[in-house]
Amino acid sequence: MKILFIGDVVGSPGRNILKENLPHLKTKYRPDVTIVNGENAAHGKGITEKIYRNFKEWGANVITLGNHAWDKKEIFEFIDDVDDMIRPANFPVDTPGIGMAFHKVGQKEIAVINAQGRTFLPPIDDPFRVVDELVNEAKARTPYVFVDFHAEATSEKQAMGWFLDGRVGGVVGTHTHVQTADQRILPNGTAYITDVGMTGPYDGILGVEKEAVLRRFQTALPVRFEVPSDGRTQLSGVCIELNKDTGMAKKIERILINDDHPFFH
Ligand SMILES: [Fe+2]
Repeated sequence: MKILFIGDVVGSPGRNILKENLPHLKTKYRPDVTIVNGENAAHGKGITEKIYRNFKEWGANVITLGNHAWDKKEIFEFIDDVDDMIRPANFPVDTPGIGMAFHKVGQKEIAVINAQGRTFLPPIDDPFRVVDELVNEAKARTPYVFVDFHAEATSEKQAMGWFLDGRVGGVVGTHTHVQTADQRILPNGTAYITDVGMTGPYDGILGVEKEAVLRRFQTALPVRFEVPSDGRTQLSGVCIELNKDTGMAKKIERILINDDHPFFH
């Protein structure tokens, strides 16, 4: 079972590089499931139905979200009609949407779980307890389980990796938009990376126009953050291969495509 995961797609620059590269990535890695974090896909904040449909057309099977899930209000019009776009499972009960999706791969299926950290993010339910319950539910159906843990603190993401080691095939961190180089397979078989990184503008600050962010740091005045409409872009992801019998990881490979790390296909 091969998983291709693409980190936080930011605005139109992120969507464009995703659309351009996904076919080549699929040819190279031959994933059974392609998962895209889309919580920043609509101009940096939220996702629209059109973008969700584009992602599906371009080859994403499951879309994950995060703290910006609700920033485009139209999400409430369609999130309950789809079962392949998930928001953090530890949002308050009765929140629209679901936190776990099952994607069919032939006779098999893989469970994809989305959860959100609480350190330096809004206080929500305990992600460890909620993920624990969902992993038990998933494992009753399939050996293949994958978690996108959308969190700010590296410590909280590492904690989730160790918490789930030996129980799920992969735990990847998202949200901080800077790819970490610590991809590894933990001792009991869980593939782990602290942050997959961002797919979007390469010359901004976390995907936002650098001038506005600099102004904010230098003046402490309120500024409007915009995603640049042109310029160089990058794509960040990982490919994880799971043992077909145990569902534990055999391999994790970091993917980074930008002018300093060109992708030859
Ligand atoms: Fe986020």
